Order: sequence, then structure tokens, then C-alpha cells
Amino acid sequence: MMRSQIIGVGRGVPARVVENKEFESFLDTSDEWIRTRTGISARRVCTHETATSLCMESARGALAQAGIGAEELDLIIVSTITPDTVTPSVACTIQKMLGAPRAAAFDISAGCTGFLYAVTVADQFIRSGMYRSVLVVSVDVLSRVTDWSDRSTCVLFGDGSAAVVLRAGERGIGNAYIRSDGDLDGSLTIPGNPIDNPWNHEDARRQTIAMDGRNVFLFAVNHMTDALEHLGQTCPLDEVDWFIPHQANVRIIELVCKNLGIPREKFYINIERYGNTSSASIPIALSEAAEKGLFKTGDRIALVAFGSGFTWGSMLVEWTL
Ligand code: UT7
Repeated sequence: MMRSQIIGVGRGVPARVVENKEFESFLDTSDEWIRTRTGISARRVCTHETATSLCMESARGALAQAGIGAEELDLIIVSTITPDTVTPSVACTIQKMLGAPRAAAFDISAGCTGFLYAVTVADQFIRSGMYRSVLVVSVDVLSRVTDWSDRSTCVLFGDGSAAVVLRAGERGIGNAYIRSDGDLDGSLTIPGNPIDNPWNHEDARRQTIAMDGRNVFLFAVNHMTDALEHLGQTCPLDEVDWFIPHQANVRIIELVCKNLGIPREKFYINIERYGNTSSASIPIALSEAAEKGLFKTGDRIALVAFGSGFTWGSMLVEWTL
């Protein structure tokens, strides 16, 4: 059966590093509180960069490693909840900029689980035989929707992007599991534009993140555990070489390790330097770990995420690079 294999990875993150200390000048918070409650020391924040420019850097890196030209792409999927423009989609914008005239292109929104959703969709097109080469890019610029006066959220997030090129092959991605539960929607929201037309005037609200951190924390631990237990039904978890979790809070990751009895060293964790980059968090970690040479060909890598919506999921990747 046709499978999707990762043949290139790349990432693009803003140049500006914001250390925890910088929040102390305008918020009642401390480096110590942020580090001990979340594991975060710094994050990247866009100044001159945009979602599109970060995607371009990621995509170029992934295509270069893959050794294919953009004109070979059949499909471009971008996962994001913070596009530069609602329309055109980021995917269409980068299709033009990369020069990928054959590719269909669209964005998908699945919060921090966006990368797993996007790869799952791409994988279906490849397995069906409809497409052979797909670029998946995840990007979020949460600084665009952050309430910088809310200490319980603004210290958590960072901006970034990463990409993979998938190509039809014999081995690669398996066990994709994506779920959602819209009943839990109230715990993490970013409002859209208000309805303001000649027949209705809604109060304009600032479009910033509102979150019940404790609810989200519990949801995250339970559902990342569930997603890995599901993966474990077809691949025993002690046969997995690496786990790449969504990086939201190091305490969430440690509780998932404890629930499942997995050694912490098997989890690749980089939240300390990036904070929570939403849908970009898993591919940024994947690309960093790959660059460090941590993966060998044939390694089994479990990806696991949760996000607003709410959404959650897991996926097993056999490393083919
Ligand atoms: O991708 C999904 C995105 N979201 C998440 O993953 C968030 C999941 N939740 C969390 O990571 C944690 O719940 C937080 C890091 C948001 C909060 O940690 P916590 O241990 O659950 O703290 P808490 O909400 O129980 O708050 C404890 C105290 C509160 O003060 P009081 O009420 O005890 O006086 C907060 O007001 O900490 C206070 N607090 C802060 N203090 C200093 C909240 N944020 C801060 C802050 N600095 N930045």
C-alpha cells in the first residue's frame, strides 16, 4: 500500500528572542514563576516577520532537503489559526511565491493539533494515489492575538513555523488518529470579526486569546494520554524511539510520561526556548531533533498533540531520511 514519507523538513522562526525577564517590566510576573509553572524561559516574537515569511523560510528549507522543486508539488496545506489574510489563504500566497503552479492549496484550522490534522489530510491524498508530493506547513503568529496585559496567557505563547515535504513511498506515516470535541469550546477562544452590517451591530471585541488554563491543562493531560494509548494499540509504546509532543507546558508533558510510564528522555522537549507555538510546535521540534541527528532511518517517532476546538490526536512516523 502507498504510504507518505517525510523527505524534507524545515523551520522558520522570528529573529527576536523575548526572555521571561522582559515581562517583569509591564506585568506582575517573574522569570521564576514562568519557568517553574511552564518550563518556558524564552520565546520568539515576530517584529518584521509575517506568517507568510515564516512559511516561506520553512518551505524553502524543507524543499531543499527533499531535493525537489516547488513545481513538482501537487498540494500545499498550511495549518494555522493566525493567517496574515483570511483570503487569500496562506497556502495560496506561498504557492504563488514558491512557484508551484500545479499545486492545489488551502489552509486548515485545528488549533495546536493543526500539524497532525494537515499531515493526516495530506496522507489521505497520497494513500489514495491522487497526489504524489505534498508540502505541509504549520505556522502561528499568536502574538497577533495575544492580550499583552493578561499574565495568565501572554507569557505562554511564541511565534514560529515549520514544514515537511511528503512523498509517496513504501514506508512512512501510519496510525493517524485525529479527534475533536466541540462541546469543550469555551475553555480556549479567539473571537473572529464581529458581525457589523447595516442590519446588525455587534460590539466590536478585541480579538485576543481567552483561556481557562486549569481546564485546558486537565484536558491536555487526559487527551494526550488517550491519544498515545490509542497509538499503543497498534505499536507498543516501548517500541517507540522518540515522542514529539505539542509543547504547551512541560508539566503537561511530564504528567503524560508518568501516566504512561514512558521515560522523560524519550520525549523531545524544546518549550524552554520557544514557548507554545501552537500548530508549529510539533514540526519545529521535529525539525530541530532531526537537525541534531537524533533520528536514525527506521526510527519510530510518535507525535501527539491537543489544541483548541478542542482537538487532539497522535501519529506514528517511521523516519525515512
Ligand atoms: O495549546 C494550548 C494552550 N494552553 C495551554 O496549554 C495552557 C494549559 N494550562 C497551563 O499551562 C497552566 O494552567 C497555566 C500555566 C496557564 C497556569 O498554571 P497553574 O499552575 O494552573 O496556575 P493557576 O492558573 O492555578 O494560577 C496560580 C496563580 C494564580 O494566582 P492566585 O489566584 O493563586 O492568587 C494566578 O493568578 O498564579 C497566578 N498567575 C501568575 N502569576 C505570576 C497566573 N499567571 C501568572 C503569571 N505570573 N504569568
